[in-house]
Amino acid sequence: MSKVKVAVFASGSGSNFQAMMEHGNLACEIVLLVCDQPHASVIDKAAAFGVPTFVFETDHFSTRAEYEQEITKQLKDAQAEWVFLAGYMRIIGSTLLQAFPAKIINIHPSLLPAFPGMDAIGQAFRAKVSTTGVTVHYIDEGIDTGPIIAQEEVDIQAHDTQDSLQRRIQKTEHRLYPQIMNQVIREQATSNESS
Ligand code: GRF
Repeated sequence: MSKVKVAVFASGSGSNFQAMMEHGNLACEIVLLVCDQPHASVIDKAAAFGVPTFVFETDHFSTRAEYEQEITKQLKDAQAEWVFLAGYMRIIGSTLLQAFPAKIINIHPSLLPAFPGMDAIGQAFRAKVSTTGVTVHYIDEGIDTGPIIAQEEVDIQAHDTQDSLQRRIQKTEHRLYPQIMNQVIREQATSNESS
């Protein structure tokens, strides 16, 4: 049986994308990388793994709805059923939310609802909390507010710098995200079988 097809959205280095591709036992097939930054290194990673990319620049569109319509078309053409955001630095608007209801998932480097938005690792480090972590959650209209699927704690140690903390958080992300992808895909397959 063929695997469920999914897309990954990213804007930057793509270490989470790489961890998904190197997982070895992913329950889904990544059929498309969507990227809004033409020079992002995630594009080279996708090329190395032979994953097709849709790269766009928001400047070429007049509204978010317009570029999200084009993304939706690309996702439908690729037969992607789920979207996994991995460092995609844009807000998801109503066009995509309506096209993929409860099918867009994000990973965020803090224990939401603590430290939402940009630079979550720096926010936690500067706040001198003893524990931060990683959250995988559904996307809704807000910023990092959707229903939480999974969280994992990462302790901040006395000798940590922001860089060392970031490395441990990323390590956690690279293990947790593929695991949760498999979980949601398998849960959907089970609920499809019983309906
Ligand atoms: C990750 O820390 C993720 O939690 C956040 O953006 C970062 C992306 O990193 N949303 P990478 O591009 O996967 O290396």
